[in-house]
Amino acid sequence: MVKKSEGETDIDNRLLSTSMKKKEIKHYTKSSMLVFFLKGSKRWFALSILAAFLLTSMEMLIPQIISFTVDHVLGSEEMDVSPFVASLIEKLGGVERLADSLWILALAIGIVGLFSALGKYINMYANAKASESMMLHMRKSIFSHLQKLPYSWHSKNQTGDIIQRSTSDVDTIRNFVSEQLTSVFRIVVLISFSLFCMFSMHTMLAIISACFIPIVLGYSTIFRAKIAHYFEECDENEGVLSTIAQENLTGVRVVRAFGREAYEKERFEKQNQHYTNAWIKFCRILNIFWMSGDLISAIQVMTIIVSGAILGANGQLTEGTFIAFVSYNSMLVWPVRQLGRVLSEMSKAGVSIDRIRAIMNAEPEANDATATPSLSGDIVFSHVSYAYEKVPVLEDVSFTVKGGSVLGILGSTGAGKSTLMYLLDRLLELEQGSITIGGVDIRDIDRVYLRKNIGIVLQEPYLFSRTIGENITITQDHTTPEDLARVTETACLDDTIEGMTEGYDTMVGERGVTLSGGQKQRTAIARMLLQNAPIMIFDDSLSAVDAVTDAKIRELLSRHFGSATVVLISHRITTLMQADHILVMDQGKIAEEGCHKDLLAQGGIYSQIFALQSADAQSRKED
Ligand SMILES: Nc1ncnc2c1ncn2[C@@H]1O[C@H](COP(=O)(O)OP(=O)(O)OP(=O)(O)O)[C@@H](O)[C@H]1O
Ligand SMILES: [Mg+2]
Repeated sequence: MVKKSEGETDIDNRLLSTSMKKKEIKHYTKSSMLVFFLKGSKRWFALSILAAFLLTSMEMLIPQIISFTVDHVLGSEEMDVSPFVASLIEKLGGVERLADSLWILALAIGIVGLFSALGKYINMYANAKASESMMLHMRKSIFSHLQKLPYSWHSKNQTGDIIQRSTSDVDTIRNFVSEQLTSVFRIVVLISFSLFCMFSMHTMLAIISACFIPIVLGYSTIFRAKIAHYFEECDENEGVLSTIAQENLTGVRVVRAFGREAYEKERFEKQNQHYTNAWIKFCRILNIFWMSGDLISAIQVMTIIVSGAILGANGQLTEGTFIAFVSYNSMLVWPVRQLGRVLSEMSKAGVSIDRIRAIMNAEPEANDATATPSLSGDIVFSHVSYAYEKVPVLEDVSFTVKGGSVLGILGSTGAGKSTLMYLLDRLLELEQGSITIGGVDIRDIDRVYLRKNIGIVLQEPYLFSRTIGENITITQDHTTPEDLARVTETACLDDTIEGMTEGYDTMVGERGVTLSGGQKQRTAIARMLLQNAPIMIFDDSLSAVDAVTDAKIRELLSRHFGSATVVLISHRITTLMQADHILVMDQGKIAEEGCHKDLLAQGGIYSQIFALQSADAQSRKED
């Protein structure tokens, strides 16, 4: 037997776990999505349906008691009841006794009414419990799935639209399941029972009444497609409107700074109008649908009353049967109309399920590797190329960062510097080439472990609307006051925090709006330093800090780095010049590399930028 090397076994494990992962990835169909969302609430829905059965049966009994009273107790029609009912009447003392004590029949109606009320209470309670727990499960599943989706998915999708799908569409599905789907059982029972009673009373009249059912179902089916189409338009327009509102609230500073309020207002109003128009169109189609339904129902009731009256006048129908028949017919009208409604609501829910399915079926980031090697070794980029949506941004990039050394990256905007770091952190998935740390391919390293061990200060630091202390300690479960003091001092943030009225407990506002750009960057640096990671990346992290503070932080940082491997990305040569090795990136390629001295000697882009920045600094000094 050929013994596999450690590397081969690792790769085998990776492939195995990838294929297992592939099998685990769920692809929901419309119905399986609904079944998944119903997980945990099915029992309550079942109870609600059972209670609806009780309610319906009780409701059905009342016309029977009235018909019996009119025809056999008050009138003298021949009795034609089931043996069970006959023995019950016998036990109560016979029809004569009932005629003398009408209160017994009134009490029977009262008891039936009581059970009916009980059925209604259980039905509503169980339904509320089921639908709320379904909502809880839906929101939880969507949110946790969103957390697992790759950064590339989030960068392609709009936040406002995602929020609309997670709220409005969730609500549409809840309404459909709790109000429509559960009523289907009740509707079917009501229709069957009414028809059964009607057929047992008068076949001809029952056939006339039943003829209207296929007509209602037929036109509801025709309307279904139209309703789905118009509702989808409404839903999509709502998504766009949410995105505009959300972007405007997030970008309020830009809007104000550029005096674009009027433009943005107009943009919002235009979309608002589109959305309103879509709803008006949708309501118009619903109105036509309901109006034609009402018309058909009215014609049906009228037909039954007229036919019943004619049959009664000819002596083919007793008064009691006529009253009961009309009651059952009116009981049939509601469920048949409701069945039409279920069909129309089903199309709305179908649109919402599809919109949520688009999120739930998006492939999550696979944590398909398990290796947890030491990350203090050399970082090697080998022939790395990357393209965003087929637009190449990195082309055949190869370089090595010695473990424990400092690498500086300089380059024009859009050269691909941040993309390189996203690839290292596996925020983006490598397409061509390889990246290894200490000889281990990053695709073999457990993704969570890798990210925990790469401290990255993003180019645009994001702060949460929590206190400044919470923002710094967010990467750690437990932080000692000493650690907190150490990192804030290194990031030159201690004085700023001391100057704040509530120190570490000062709220920073949404996305850190109450802090200056430099303060935000320094908070992000302190947050990353607390991570104590063996690899630290600073992506243009001191761009908003003045030159003096920049120098001070660099000095303090260099003491903090210890044995960590550091990548400094900057447009300022002063920030990078002390690095052990410097890369100069240009249009997705490495244009030059070496240490500060070598690069100056090369007389290329680096030396030109250095000359420009030095002259600029000199002229500012002279001013
Ligand atoms: N999510 C994205 N989708 C599509 N294109 C993108 C995306 N992110 C970046 N790009 C493009 O990729 C290129 C490289 O971007 P990158 O952010 O890596 O540049 P950079 O060197 O960090 O620039 P800067 O110095 O301005 O930060 C740019 O042309 C940019 O437009
Ligand atoms: Mg960048």
